[in-house]
Amino acid sequence: MSFPRRSRAAAALGVGALLLVSCAGEEADAEADEQPEDQAGEEVEASEPTCQFAPDEQVDHEYARDSLGHFAQEADLKVGNVAAGGGHHEDEEYPDPFPDDEEYREHLAEEFTSLTHENYMKWEFIHPDEWGDFHFEETDAVVEFAQEHGMDMRGHALFWHSQNPEWLEESVEAGEYTQEELRDMLEEHVRTVVSRYAGCIQQWDVVNEVFDDEEEPQLRDGSYEESGNLWIRELGPEILDDVFEWAHEEDPDALLFYNDYSVDGTNAKSDAYYELIQEQLDRGVPVHGFGSQTHLSMQYDFDPEDYQANLQRFEDLGLETAVTEIDVRGEVTEEGRMSDEDRAGAAERYGAVLESCLELASCNSYTIWGSLDEHSWIPGTFEGEGDAALYESGYERKPHYCINQQVLVEHTEGEDVWADDEAFEECRGILEEYGVGV
Ligand code: XIL
Repeated sequence: MSFPRRSRAAAALGVGALLLVSCAGEEADAEADEQPEDQAGEEVEASEPTCQFAPDEQVDHEYARDSLGHFAQEADLKVGNVAAGGGHHEDEEYPDPFPDDEEYREHLAEEFTSLTHENYMKWEFIHPDEWGDFHFEETDAVVEFAQEHGMDMRGHALFWHSQNPEWLEESVEAGEYTQEELRDMLEEHVRTVVSRYAGCIQQWDVVNEVFDDEEEPQLRDGSYEESGNLWIRELGPEILDDVFEWAHEEDPDALLFYNDYSVDGTNAKSDAYYELIQEQLDRGVPVHGFGSQTHLSMQYDFDPEDYQANLQRFEDLGLETAVTEIDVRGEVTEEGRMSDEDRAGAAERYGAVLESCLELASCNSYTIWGSLDEHSWIPGTFEGEGDAALYESGYERKPHYCINQQVLVEHTEGEDVWADDEAFEECRGILEEYGVGV
């Protein structure tokens, strides 16, 4: 690819490293297309932007040996979760978990090495009332927390058909903006948000869910009622190139992703992305990654080999890949529990997806969409389904959690350690109870 981008190692580390590049020697040759050089081929310095929210001191904390974070670090994989708040939480009786629940925040820091704003980065939060006022209070708080705890961040999402503010959808519908005004608004949004968090956010979901769910997926250019994307409808598909260009200009080190659901294998929708991205790369558009949200349901089949094959083909295009929002739901009883059989199956799916990600050199980030079922978006969105998150209430580990632990331990320290080390006794017992294990 011709555009400059950070090396995978730097991306995986997520550090503000200063690269000293000498263009003499074999090593430099191998890296030459990724790193800067001046015209005389002399030593030049390239530095990643420093996050403006970097704290003077980080909170001193270590991941416990039985945490996912411990093995995520050993595996050089970012294992993330959401900072829960906004969106559906606003209709619940509890206050927003991230700002208001200390125990919840501690849990995030103890278990995960990466965070995604579940809702606070979306247009409806940043522009709640009118154009021009950027609202960053909640967004900043999560970024500061991640910085203090040495966590990476995935930015979510700059361009989407959903969770746009009502005032925006209504005024566009009423024809209150010219195309040029809309384009300027989008540009200002992308540039302001990306530059504010340059150096803090390693991966961005720049474009979210642009293809529809038809048999032959089309870009969502329909009306608001048809879940159309107002930007594509008003500005045409060319706008997709611009959004990536603007984001790249504001933070050349951030990895810029497409992200969608129902692309958990090679299917019509993932084919559509493959073609679109291939064309954009040919035009030199700075697209760096493809994210599979991976919202799975036990009501539908899932083929782990095809899941991996799909991400592999995006890797072969030269892209990073990521599991961006995994949860595995199923039909539940009134108490919100799946059958034991479905729980075992759900755990197996979590394990298979994590194994696929670990197998792929391009997959450096695996994010789980929620911790507690009482906070999860699933019951309110998919009627009769639930039990998708990692923990029982009270943060007791479910098989969903334990399989992630097993896969990470076996990947980093081997099967014997998983089988013998007393740190993993609890999870071994839980998985045994459900008759699962990979
Ligand atoms: C969900 C949030 O979890 C909810 O709180 C909110 O009400 C709706 O959005 N794909 C995405 C995420 O890209 O932003 C969605 O998150 C889940 C599906």
